[in-house]
Amino acid sequence: MEHEDIEVKLLLEAIYIKYGYDFRNYTKASIKRRISQRLMLSNLANISAMQHLLLTNKVFFETLLHDFSIQVTEMFRDPSFYIAIRKHVIPILKTYPYIKIWHAGCASGEEVYSMAILLKEEGLLEKTLIYATDINEVVLKKAKDGIYPVEKIKEYTQNYQKAGGLKSFSNYYTAKYDAVIMKKELKKNLIFAQHNLATDHDFGEMNLIMCRNVLIYFDDNLQKRVYRLFTNSLVRQGFLCLGSKESLNFSDSYKFFEESVPNEKIYRKKII
Ligand SMILES: C[S@@+](CC[C@H](N)C(=O)[O-])C[C@H]1O[C@@H](n2cnc3c(N)ncnc32)[C@H](O)[C@@H]1O
Repeated sequence: MEHEDIEVKLLLEAIYIKYGYDFRNYTKASIKRRISQRLMLSNLANISAMQHLLLTNKVFFETLLHDFSIQVTEMFRDPSFYIAIRKHVIPILKTYPYIKIWHAGCASGEEVYSMAILLKEEGLLEKTLIYATDINEVVLKKAKDGIYPVEKIKEYTQNYQKAGGLKSFSNYYTAKYDAVIMKKELKKNLIFAQHNLATDHDFGEMNLIMCRNVLIYFDDNLQKRVYRLFTNSLVRQGFLCLGSKESLNFSDSYKFFEESVPNEKIYRKKII
Protein backbone atom coordinates (compact mmCIF):
# COMPACT_ATOMS: atom_id res chain seq x y z
CA MET A 1 0.00 0.00 0.00
CA GLU A 2 1.26 3.48 -0.89
CA HIS A 3 2.38 5.75 1.96
CA GLU A 4 -0.43 8.23 1.17
CA ASP A 5 -3.08 5.49 1.13
CA ILE A 6 -2.00 4.38 4.62
CA GLU A 7 -2.28 7.96 5.89
CA VAL A 8 -5.77 8.31 4.37
CA LYS A 9 -6.86 5.00 5.89
CA LEU A 10 -5.61 6.08 9.34
CA LEU A 11 -7.29 9.46 9.01
CA LEU A 12 -10.68 7.87 8.20
CA GLU A 13 -10.22 5.41 11.06
CA ALA A 14 -9.44 8.30 13.44
CA ILE A 15 -12.59 10.15 12.35
CA TYR A 16 -14.69 7.04 12.93
CA ILE A 17 -13.24 6.32 16.38
CA LYS A 18 -13.38 9.92 17.59
CA TYR A 19 -16.60 11.18 16.00
CA GLY A 20 -18.52 8.07 14.83
CA TYR A 21 -18.76 9.24 11.20
CA ASP A 22 -17.84 6.39 8.89
CA PHE A 23 -16.20 7.43 5.62
CA ARG A 24 -14.11 4.26 5.36
CA ASN A 25 -16.18 2.93 2.48
CA TYR A 26 -16.43 6.06 0.37
CA THR A 27 -14.67 5.88 -3.00
CA LYS A 28 -10.98 6.53 -2.39
CA ALA A 29 -10.53 8.88 -5.36
CA SER A 30 -13.18 11.30 -4.16
CA ILE A 31 -12.00 11.25 -0.52
CA LYS A 32 -8.37 11.79 -1.57
CA ARG A 33 -9.37 14.74 -3.73
CA ARG A 34 -11.22 16.38 -0.83
CA ILE A 35 -8.29 15.80 1.53
CA SER A 36 -5.77 17.30 -0.91
CA GLN A 37 -7.95 20.38 -1.42
CA ARG A 38 -8.29 20.88 2.34
CA LEU A 39 -4.53 20.33 2.86
CA MET A 40 -3.80 23.13 0.40
CA LEU A 41 -6.38 25.50 1.88
CA SER A 42 -5.30 24.97 5.48
CA ASN A 43 -1.51 25.05 4.95
CA LEU A 44 -1.01 21.74 6.73
CA ALA A 45 2.25 19.88 6.03
CA ASN A 46 0.70 16.46 5.44
CA ILE A 47 -2.21 14.13 6.21
CA SER A 48 -0.76 13.15 9.60
CA ALA A 49 -0.79 16.80 10.64
CA MET A 50 -4.38 16.98 9.46
CA GLN A 51 -5.24 13.93 11.56
CA HIS A 52 -3.76 15.54 14.67
CA LEU A 53 -5.69 18.75 14.05
CA LEU A 54 -9.05 17.10 13.51
CA LEU A 55 -8.67 15.00 16.66
CA THR A 56 -8.08 18.10 18.76
CA ASN A 57 -10.27 20.62 16.96
CA LYS A 58 -13.95 19.85 16.39
CA VAL A 59 -14.47 22.91 14.20
CA PHE A 60 -11.79 21.66 11.82
CA PHE A 61 -13.44 18.24 11.82
CA GLU A 62 -16.76 19.85 10.87
CA THR A 63 -15.04 21.62 7.97
CA LEU A 64 -13.72 18.28 6.75
CA LEU A 65 -17.14 16.69 7.23
CA HIS A 66 -18.57 19.37 4.97
CA ASP A 67 -15.78 18.70 2.42
CA PHE A 68 -16.56 14.99 2.37
CA SER A 69 -20.25 15.39 1.62
CA ILE A 70 -20.61 16.82 -1.88
CA GLN A 71 -23.72 18.96 -1.86
CA VAL A 72 -24.24 19.86 -5.52
CA THR A 73 -27.95 19.80 -6.31
CA GLU A 74 -30.68 21.69 -8.14
CA MET A 75 -34.46 21.90 -8.49
CA PHE A 76 -35.94 19.43 -10.98
CA ARG A 77 -32.46 18.04 -11.66
CA ASP A 78 -32.68 15.83 -14.78
CA PRO A 79 -36.14 17.08 -15.86
CA SER A 80 -36.90 13.87 -17.80
CA PHE A 81 -36.77 11.98 -14.50
CA TYR A 82 -39.69 14.06 -13.17
CA ILE A 83 -41.63 13.51 -16.39
CA ALA A 84 -41.18 9.75 -15.85
CA ILE A 85 -42.37 10.08 -12.24
CA ARG A 86 -45.50 11.89 -13.40
CA LYS A 87 -46.19 9.37 -16.12
CA HIS A 88 -45.31 6.05 -14.51
CA VAL A 89 -45.29 6.48 -10.72
CA ILE A 90 -47.94 9.08 -9.89
CA PRO A 91 -50.87 7.05 -11.36
CA ILE A 92 -49.95 4.20 -8.99
CA LEU A 93 -49.46 6.48 -5.98
CA LYS A 94 -52.90 7.95 -6.69
CA THR A 95 -54.48 4.59 -5.82
CA TYR A 96 -53.03 4.61 -2.25
CA PRO A 97 -54.86 6.06 0.78
CA TYR A 98 -51.65 7.73 2.00
CA ILE A 99 -48.06 7.91 0.76
CA LYS A 100 -44.69 7.86 2.48
CA ILE A 101 -41.60 9.13 0.65
CA TRP A 102 -37.98 9.17 1.81
CA HIS A 103 -35.38 11.45 0.24
CA ALA A 104 -32.06 9.99 1.40
CA GLY A 105 -29.15 12.40 0.91
CA CYS A 106 -31.44 15.36 0.23
CA ALA A 107 -28.64 17.98 0.53
CA SER A 108 -30.10 21.51 0.76
CA GLY A 109 -33.58 20.32 -0.18
CA GLU A 110 -34.04 21.37 -3.81
CA GLU A 111 -34.98 17.80 -4.75
CA VAL A 112 -37.48 17.63 -1.88
CA TYR A 113 -39.27 20.84 -2.89
CA SER A 114 -39.32 19.67 -6.52
CA MET A 115 -41.13 16.53 -5.43
CA ALA A 116 -43.48 18.47 -3.14
CA ILE A 117 -44.41 20.75 -6.07
CA LEU A 118 -45.06 17.78 -8.34
CA LEU A 119 -47.19 16.07 -5.68
CA LYS A 120 -49.14 19.27 -5.11
CA GLU A 121 -49.90 19.61 -8.80
CA GLU A 122 -51.09 16.01 -8.86
CA GLY A 123 -53.32 16.54 -5.80
CA LEU A 124 -51.25 14.16 -3.65
CA LEU A 125 -49.32 16.42 -1.30
CA GLU A 126 -52.02 16.47 1.38
CA LYS A 127 -51.89 12.70 1.82
CA THR A 128 -48.12 12.39 1.64
CA LEU A 129 -45.51 12.39 4.38
CA ILE A 130 -42.04 13.23 3.09
CA TYR A 131 -38.98 12.35 5.16
CA ALA A 132 -35.86 14.16 4.01
CA THR A 133 -32.54 13.09 5.49
CA ASP A 134 -28.87 13.85 5.11
CA ILE A 135 -25.65 13.20 7.01
CA ASN A 136 -24.82 16.90 6.99
CA GLU A 137 -26.65 19.11 9.49
CA VAL A 138 -25.58 22.35 7.82
CA VAL A 139 -27.28 21.49 4.52
CA LEU A 140 -30.29 20.05 6.35
CA LYS A 141 -30.84 23.42 8.01
CA LYS A 142 -30.84 25.04 4.55
CA ALA A 143 -33.32 22.43 3.36
CA LYS A 144 -35.61 23.13 6.29
CA ASP A 145 -35.45 26.89 5.70
CA GLY A 146 -36.13 26.43 1.98
CA ILE A 147 -34.36 29.68 1.09
CA TYR A 148 -32.39 29.79 -2.15
CA PRO A 149 -30.38 32.45 -4.01
CA VAL A 150 -32.48 34.39 -6.49
CA GLU A 151 -29.86 33.94 -9.23
CA LYS A 152 -30.65 30.22 -9.34
CA ILE A 153 -34.29 30.80 -10.17
CA LYS A 154 -33.89 31.23 -13.91
CA GLU A 155 -32.28 27.79 -14.23
CA TYR A 156 -34.78 26.21 -11.82
CA THR A 157 -37.71 27.70 -13.74
CA GLN A 158 -36.37 26.23 -16.98
CA ASN A 159 -35.93 22.84 -15.31
CA TYR A 160 -39.46 23.02 -13.91
CA GLN A 161 -40.89 23.74 -17.35
CA LYS A 162 -38.86 20.95 -18.98
CA ALA A 163 -40.04 18.62 -16.21
CA GLY A 164 -43.64 19.15 -17.26
CA GLY A 165 -44.59 21.72 -14.60
CA LEU A 166 -48.25 22.66 -14.88
CA LYS A 167 -48.16 26.22 -13.52
CA SER A 168 -45.83 29.15 -13.23
CA PHE A 169 -42.83 28.25 -11.05
CA SER A 170 -43.19 31.61 -9.28
CA ASN A 171 -46.38 30.25 -7.65
CA TYR A 172 -44.18 28.26 -5.31
CA TYR A 173 -41.89 30.88 -3.78
CA THR A 174 -41.83 34.41 -2.47
CA ALA A 175 -38.95 36.62 -3.56
CA LYS A 176 -37.26 38.68 -0.88
CA TYR A 177 -34.17 40.80 -1.69
CA ASP A 178 -31.61 38.42 -3.19
CA ALA A 179 -33.35 35.21 -2.12
CA VAL A 180 -36.50 33.23 -2.64
CA ILE A 181 -38.39 31.44 0.11
CA MET A 182 -40.35 28.32 -0.74
CA LYS A 183 -44.05 28.64 0.15
CA LYS A 184 -45.25 27.29 3.51
CA GLU A 185 -47.88 25.07 1.90
CA LEU A 186 -45.05 22.95 0.43
CA LYS A 187 -43.41 22.48 3.82
CA LYS A 188 -46.42 21.22 5.75
CA ASN A 189 -45.77 17.50 5.37
CA LEU A 190 -41.97 17.59 5.31
CA ILE A 191 -39.90 16.08 8.11
CA PHE A 192 -36.16 16.77 8.05
CA ALA A 193 -33.80 14.59 10.06
CA GLN A 194 -30.14 13.72 10.23
CA HIS A 195 -29.52 10.16 9.06
CA ASN A 196 -26.29 8.48 8.05
CA LEU A 197 -26.67 5.84 5.35
CA ALA A 198 -23.34 4.28 6.37
CA THR A 199 -24.28 3.59 9.98
CA ASP A 200 -27.98 4.22 10.71
CA HIS A 201 -31.03 1.98 10.43
CA ASP A 202 -33.93 1.70 8.01
CA PHE A 203 -37.00 3.89 7.81
CA GLY A 204 -40.07 1.68 7.64
CA GLU A 205 -42.86 1.27 5.11
CA MET A 206 -41.86 3.73 2.41
CA ASN A 207 -43.79 3.81 -0.87
CA LEU A 208 -40.97 5.61 -2.64
CA ILE A 209 -37.31 6.21 -1.85
CA MET A 210 -35.26 8.76 -3.76
CA CYS A 211 -31.53 8.51 -3.32
CA ARG A 212 -30.02 10.30 -6.25
CA ASN A 213 -26.37 11.18 -6.75
CA VAL A 214 -25.30 9.86 -3.36
CA LEU A 215 -24.29 6.22 -3.96
CA ILE A 216 -21.86 7.32 -6.62
CA TYR A 217 -19.52 8.34 -3.77
CA PHE A 218 -19.75 4.94 -2.03
CA ASP A 219 -17.67 1.81 -2.71
CA ASP A 220 -19.29 -1.56 -3.52
CA ASN A 221 -19.55 -2.67 0.11
CA LEU A 222 -21.24 0.48 1.27
CA GLN A 223 -23.56 0.46 -1.74
CA LYS A 224 -24.52 -3.10 -0.80
CA ARG A 225 -25.37 -1.98 2.74
CA VAL A 226 -27.47 0.91 1.50
CA TYR A 227 -29.37 -1.21 -1.03
CA ARG A 228 -30.22 -3.64 1.79
CA LEU A 229 -31.39 -0.72 3.89
CA PHE A 230 -33.61 0.51 1.06
CA THR A 231 -34.99 -2.96 0.31
CA ASN A 232 -36.00 -3.29 3.97
CA SER A 233 -37.44 0.22 4.12
CA LEU A 234 -39.75 -0.17 1.10
CA VAL A 235 -43.22 -1.67 1.10
CA ARG A 236 -43.84 -4.40 -1.48
CA GLN A 237 -44.07 -2.72 -4.89
CA GLY A 238 -42.44 0.41 -3.51
CA PHE A 239 -40.31 2.51 -5.85
CA LEU A 240 -36.58 3.17 -5.64
CA CYS A 241 -35.17 6.08 -7.64
CA LEU A 242 -31.44 6.46 -8.21
CA GLY A 243 -29.32 9.08 -9.98
CA SER A 244 -28.55 8.94 -13.69
CA LYS A 245 -25.02 7.57 -13.11
CA GLU A 246 -26.13 4.98 -10.55
CA SER A 247 -27.47 1.49 -11.02
CA LEU A 248 -28.87 -1.34 -8.98
CA ASN A 249 -28.25 -3.88 -11.74
CA PHE A 250 -24.95 -5.29 -10.45
CA SER A 251 -25.94 -5.44 -6.81
CA ASP A 252 -27.12 -8.42 -4.73
CA SER A 253 -30.39 -6.57 -4.15
CA TYR A 254 -31.25 -6.45 -7.86
CA LYS A 255 -33.19 -9.72 -7.54
CA PHE A 256 -35.70 -7.99 -5.26
CA PHE A 257 -36.52 -5.36 -7.88
CA GLU A 258 -37.80 -4.94 -11.38
CA GLU A 259 -36.87 -2.04 -13.64
CA SER A 260 -39.84 0.24 -13.83
CA VAL A 261 -38.39 3.00 -16.01
CA PRO A 262 -34.87 1.76 -16.87
CA ASN A 263 -33.62 4.96 -18.55
CA GLU A 264 -34.51 7.02 -15.51
CA LYS A 265 -33.20 4.51 -12.92
CA ILE A 266 -36.64 3.97 -11.41
CA TYR A 267 -36.96 0.49 -9.88
CA ARG A 268 -39.89 -1.24 -8.23
CA LYS A 269 -39.67 -3.76 -5.40
CA LYS A 270 -41.11 -7.13 -6.37
CA ILE A 271 -44.05 -8.68 -4.54
CA ILE A 272 -42.04 -11.71 -3.30
C1 LIG B 1 -24.57 15.40 -4.51
S1 LIG B 1 -25.70 15.53 -3.18
C2 LIG B 1 -27.19 14.90 -3.91
C3 LIG B 1 -28.40 15.74 -3.59
C4 LIG B 1 -29.68 15.33 -4.27
N1 LIG B 1 -30.07 14.00 -3.90
C5 LIG B 1 -29.58 15.46 -5.78
O1 LIG B 1 -29.51 14.45 -6.48
O2 LIG B 1 -29.55 16.59 -6.27
C6 LIG B 1 -25.17 14.21 -2.09
C7 LIG B 1 -25.70 14.34 -0.68
O3 LIG B 1 -25.49 13.08 -0.02
C8 LIG B 1 -25.18 13.34 1.33
N2 LIG B 1 -24.48 12.19 1.92
C9 LIG B 1 -23.19 11.81 1.74
N3 LIG B 1 -22.92 10.74 2.51
C10 LIG B 1 -24.06 10.44 3.18
C11 LIG B 1 -24.40 9.45 4.14
N4 LIG B 1 -23.51 8.55 4.55
N5 LIG B 1 -25.66 9.43 4.63
C12 LIG B 1 -26.58 10.36 4.22
N6 LIG B 1 -26.31 11.32 3.33
C13 LIG B 1 -25.06 11.37 2.81
C14 LIG B 1 -24.29 14.59 1.25
O4 LIG B 1 -24.23 15.26 2.48
C15 LIG B 1 -24.98 15.39 0.16
O5 LIG B 1 -25.89 16.31 0.70
